[in-house]
Amino acid sequence: MTGTAGSAGAPAMQGAAAEDIRQRLRRDHEATLADADRLRGEKDAARALAALRELRRAWMIHALAEETVVYRALEGAEGLPIAGTRSDERFVEHELVESLFAKLGRLRPGSHEWVARLNVARDLIARHIESEHDEMFGRLERAFDEIGLAELARRFELARDKLALLEDAKAA
Ligand SMILES: [Fe+2]
Repeated sequence: MTGTAGSAGAPAMQGAAAEDIRQRLRRDHEATLADADRLRGEKDAARALAALRELRRAWMIHALAEETVVYRALEGAEGLPIAGTRSDERFVEHELVESLFAKLGRLRPGSHEWVARLNVARDLIARHIESEHDEMFGRLERAFDEIGLAELARRFELARDKLALLEDAKAA
């Protein structure tokens, strides 16, 4: 147990109801999958492209926040470099989904290629989520205590907020 790894100086979480990082990630993951499924059902081309932009933005924010906060914290707590661990695959999955989204943005919604790429992206997202829940959640639980898990959720949330601001600034 490494407890509150990386949280030196941070105020302790108050109350027992603080969300832990696994719940927080699960929420993000479920929202992403639901959005991807909604996009598959969208028949209007303009609305499909707008929904794709939104999904892509959310995925980028999720992926970067998860990589910088969660993967790094696990790496530190376990004393293992990410290279050679299953976290490697997580990075690749994040990147593959992002590149599919980028390609989709240049396709005509509803075309054969659009449907094919969207289905593959959706399956990759589902696979990614499944392996994180199966494998990474257990590692998080072994590496951090309750306070550490809540602290990670707080840091993940902060990272997301910062990344969202950056994205808004870029889009403005
Ligand atoms: Fe993820």
